[in-house]
Amino acid sequence: MARIAVIFATTSGQTARVAQHVVDVLRRGAHSVDAIEVGDNASCPPLDGYDAAIVAGSVRMGKFQRRLVEVVRAQRDVLHRKRTAFLAVSLSAARKSEPAKREVKETVARFIRETRFRPDAILPVAGALFYTKYGFFLRLVMRLISRLAGGDTDISRDYEYTDWKALTHFARRFSASLGIARAQALSS
Ligand SMILES: Cc1cc2nc3c(=O)[nH]c(=O)nc-3n(C[C@H](O)[C@H](O)[C@H](O)COP(=O)(O)O)c2cc1C
Repeated sequence: MARIAVIFATTSGQTARVAQHVVDVLRRGAHSVDAIEVGDNASCPPLDGYDAAIVAGSVRMGKFQRRLVEVVRAQRDVLHRKRTAFLAVSLSAARKSEPAKREVKETVARFIRETRFRPDAILPVAGALFYTKYGFFLRLVMRLISRLAGGDTDISRDYEYTDWKALTHFARRFSASLGIARAQALSS
């Protein structure tokens, strides 16, 4: 059993759901898991006591949450002593076009550049469009952006693109990799 921190920042709630899903899968793997939300005050408890950490954030206007960047940058050296993963939630991850793939790469590269965090694994995760929860102007802007990208435009409903099965698979592989790391440490 490993102690795992799932550190996340969310703006509209989808990354919180993604983080909770990962927490549930890891707990089923008998790990001890803490979900740590990085709120507006950009605080996060020390991560020294954990064996592994998963960081999750979402993209707005090409950037991950500033507060997540700050927390990861501050604890980068501690993170590098553990097995780690980064879950990058965005709408471009839901799209198959070359520009969308490029955008995913660029936003993740920017996060890596700003934090100098080198996670062992990176998973782009398709997020959600919460038309019914956005304010009037944001709803129209998001519909326009979605239309230009050939996406969904019915503003009377929400759209969730997250592939929960792929996320389960990722969390299981992460869980299994912890067992392997532990066995290697014991035999060396
Ligand atoms: C104002 C706004 C700006 C966004 N900008 C981007 C963007 O630049 N690139 C992208 O791929 N997705 C963008 N998105 C989509 C979000 O990444 C997506 O909705 C994600 O699920 C949000 O996660 P959260 O609910 O945890 O904040 C944007 C969404 C909003 C509301």
